[in-house]
Amino acid sequence: MAVANTLTLPGSAILVTGASTGIGAATARALGAAGARVGLVARRKELLDQVAAQTRAAGAPDVEVWAADLSDLPLAERVALEAWDRFGGIDGLVNNAGAPKRKHVTRLTADEVESIMTLNYFSPVRMTLALLPKMRERGGAVIVNVASLAGRVAPPREAAYAGSKFALNGFSEVMAVDLYDEPIHVKVIQPGPIETPIWGDVPDNEPPAYDGEFYPPQDCAEAIIELLTTDKFEIYVPPSLGDVAALKGQDVEGFIAGSAAFAKDPGAVNASYRNDPSTIPGRERS
Ligand SMILES: NC(=O)c1ccc[n+]([C@@H]2O[C@H](COP(=O)([O-])OP(=O)(O)OC[C@H]3O[C@@H](n4cnc5c(N)ncnc54)[C@H](OP(=O)(O)O)[C@@H]3O)[C@@H](O)[C@H]2O)c1
Repeated sequence: MAVANTLTLPGSAILVTGASTGIGAATARALGAAGARVGLVARRKELLDQVAAQTRAAGAPDVEVWAADLSDLPLAERVALEAWDRFGGIDGLVNNAGAPKRKHVTRLTADEVESIMTLNYFSPVRMTLALLPKMRERGGAVIVNVASLAGRVAPPREAAYAGSKFALNGFSEVMAVDLYDEPIHVKVIQPGPIETPIWGDVPDNEPPAYDGEFYPPQDCAEAIIELLTTDKFEIYVPPSLGDVAALKGQDVEGFIAGSAAFAKDPGAVNASYRNDPSTIPGRERS
């Protein structure tokens, strides 16, 4: 039988990566408001210091900042272990740092794929495996991996990004299974289109095709808190996107045909990337 999740946020130590902007910063502030002790990791120290001040102002009794490039995997591991020592144990790890890679596969290089896998997949895996023995010995923790709808329903021109998020989902599912009888809980959040700098003019990325509705990063912060404190394994933001993933599973050939049509003319089938699962690309064929 699964061991129930008993994490309560006040006083708990939660390490959030990618906390300088977007979903990570919103999560840090929300955790602060819930009375958690919060560790923040990203590269840009000035932004982290600002988020740290906001997190303290929201109510966090203790906040620490680590400015680090998590693509440096030995450094990612060291940060995780340093944070463990600094807080005297970590109750929650939110693996959120990530970068986009919007590029047609014919223009993608192997180095770009490797670099996106390093940040989006290997760095959370490395931090998780570094802390896992300590978490098991201490007797409990919750790990929330910030994957993506793109890790269940791959978008056109995002092969490298989708690959990294599918990998993170697969790793998370098997961790949840392997640790089913232990008080170590592994969860995933699948954000859809969330209004953050990831959608902006990012170097070495092509412009996004999506031009539909965006959701606030606070919606993800709330979902991450729900995952940290309940027995839920997975949350889509918005929740209706779970139906999109389920529909894809029922007709994957239709989905691929519809996605190809979307890639050629986003206007024609753009509604499929919004909230109505009946308009998923390819639905009209089945
Ligand atoms: N926004 C969406 O629509 C959406 C949808 C699905 C999934 N997601 C996922 O949500 C997560 C957060 O993204 P976001 O949307 O909040 O975008 P964001 O505002 O651009 O946040 C990305 C965060 O990751 C950090 N980061 C990037 N490269 C890093 C590196 N090499 N080392 C350490 N930290 C690094 C960034 O900080 P620094 O630049 O300061 O290092 C920043 O704090 C990502 O994993 C993303 O894939 C987002």
